[in-house]
Amino acid sequence: MSKKSITLLAIESSCDDTGAAVVRDGVVLSNVTSSQVEHRLHGGVVPELASRQHLIHILPVIREALDKAEIRLDELDAVGFTRGPGLLGSLIVGVSMSKALALALGIPLVEVHHMHAHVLAHFAQEPKPEFPFLCLTVSGGHTQIVRVMGHTDLEVIGTTIDDAAGEAFDKTGKMLGLDYPAGPVIDRLAKHGQPVFDFPEPKVRGLDFSFSGLKTSILYFLQKEMAANPQFINTRVNDICASVQAVIVRILLDKLALASRETGIREVGIAGGVSANSELRKKFEETGNRLGWKTYVPAFEYCTDNAGMIGIAAYYKYLAGQFSEQSVGPAARLEF
Ligand code: KG4
Ligand code: ZN
Repeated sequence: MSKKSITLLAIESSCDDTGAAVVRDGVVLSNVTSSQVEHRLHGGVVPELASRQHLIHILPVIREALDKAEIRLDELDAVGFTRGPGLLGSLIVGVSMSKALALALGIPLVEVHHMHAHVLAHFAQEPKPEFPFLCLTVSGGHTQIVRVMGHTDLEVIGTTIDDAAGEAFDKTGKMLGLDYPAGPVIDRLAKHGQPVFDFPEPKVRGLDFSFSGLKTSILYFLQKEMAANPQFINTRVNDICASVQAVIVRILLDKLALASRETGIREVGIAGGVSANSELRKKFEETGNRLGWKTYVPAFEYCTDNAGMIGIAAYYKYLAGQFSEQSVGPAARLEF
């Protein structure tokens, strides 16, 4: 008798992207994301606006994910969803929808930790990493080095003590008057500039990170240069972006190299929104070549927030028999 296949619907609504995906036997059949552009006008994510937008988009996004995968609701074996961490009002929309669907269909619920899912995004494509595996997860809210011993066995071994790497990009963008989120804009502008300005790397012990000192030194640098020449930002924005990007990438990869040295692990990946950064991708490959790593970089659609990665994480939890009760609620803060 052939093994029964397992089909999951996955839902992501932790921040400002509404996502739904269908995953069958660990393979993503569809991955639909509706990104909210409304926040751009506000220079950051407005929580109440985000939850209202999730409410508008969630059903059409689920419908589209099912249609693309050519899967009917009655063919689903479970619903996987992001329980946290994230914005409470945003999480409530995805969690309530998942619970309602699971209840109506009489199928189990599988809760997923959003940051586990960023790491497990590597298992959405080939080749898949082998265990043990090290992952640098860099997003708007987190900067973590994760040691992965198995699909459901993940441990944070380094983290930021203040700002996240994505925040360093976004806050720099704000100082430069760039659109939110500034990470992709800085990435684009940096391609036309040179990293000619030096910013000091923070001295943080062990595998932890810090980005708040860098933010302050960028602010003082800009204030000083603008006092001498009010056109400084206008005329040198590309070089400023290249310089800031270079130091952020250096900080991230120096710690990742240290983590690999300390753990002896050479299966190494990057994940999360900031892993879409082209300089980080390039320097990560160079570092990997130099240090003898087998490197893993997710496709762009699996770097930023998406439900495909939630479905992959939920699939492995399903196999491990890790289900949630109908009483499960969202958790804005959730232990890793
Ligand atoms: O993982 P993500 O989509 O959302 C969460 O924070 O969970 O990450 C969003 C972050 C933002 O800070 C954004 O500026 C950054 O990822 N980002 C980038 C790039 N694309 C997105 N940062 C640098 N370069 C990029 N190309
Ligand atoms: Zn994320």
